[in-house]
Amino acid sequence: MVIAIDGPAASGKSSTAQWVARRLGFFHVDSGSLYRALTAAQLAADPAAENWTEDSVLARAEKVAFVPAERTFVPLLEGAAADDILRGTQVTQHVSKVAVMPRARSWVNEQVRAAATTRNVVVDGRDMGTAVFPNAELKIFLIADPWERARRRLIQRLGRQPNDTEIAGETELIVKRDAKDATQTVQASDAVLIDTTFLTQEDQVERIVALAKAASPKASRRP
Ligand code: CDP
Repeated sequence: MVIAIDGPAASGKSSTAQWVARRLGFFHVDSGSLYRALTAAQLAADPAAENWTEDSVLARAEKVAFVPAERTFVPLLEGAAADDILRGTQVTQHVSKVAVMPRARSWVNEQVRAAATTRNVVVDGRDMGTAVFPNAELKIFLIADPWERARRRLIQRLGRQPNDTEIAGETELIVKRDAKDATQTVQASDAVLIDTTFLTQEDQVERIVALAKAASPKASRRP
């Protein structure tokens, strides 16, 4: 079974997908982590970024492995986990440049589909319910007000409540990234739209788990 969760930057897709996967005994597959891994590998090879081409970016794919760990697929960079680098500002600033490259998209889609062949999965990204898994049993499109998305992302990063100046700065970055990712961020016509601005994470997880159980008996059978 495939549950596809899509939505714009920092809409809570990954943390929600991870939690839903845990509740259902599924694996979590974060497609954005692969775009980030490819970007990190390319930044390590060529930090200037002006001359990146599809060929130079795709040449880094061999440095990235996507391996199942505890109920989630983890991208390894030259064999090592690198979460701090992947979530860091350098990668976040440059990742959209890689994400518009059609061959980078094909490579990520191949990894994600391979991960889903032998397991029940919750996949998250921008185009999981459209380009990658058009037949997913359940599709969710998560949105939230940009200010609230910025506030949540900062709490995650700083481990404290951010002030209004910090939230305003982060909101600007998120809105810019939304614009760069707009082409591939598509709500499938059969996706359930959930606006999480006024929902707790627990509420949104419960809602998706209930939808999954209604969509397929596979979601009611914990392995
Ligand atoms: O920060 P956020 O959780 O929104 O981003 P992410 O899911 O880690 O994705 C990072 C970047 O990868 C996005 O800004 C997009 O440029 C790209 N991406 C994409 O184009 N298609 C996907 N299915 C997933 C991510």
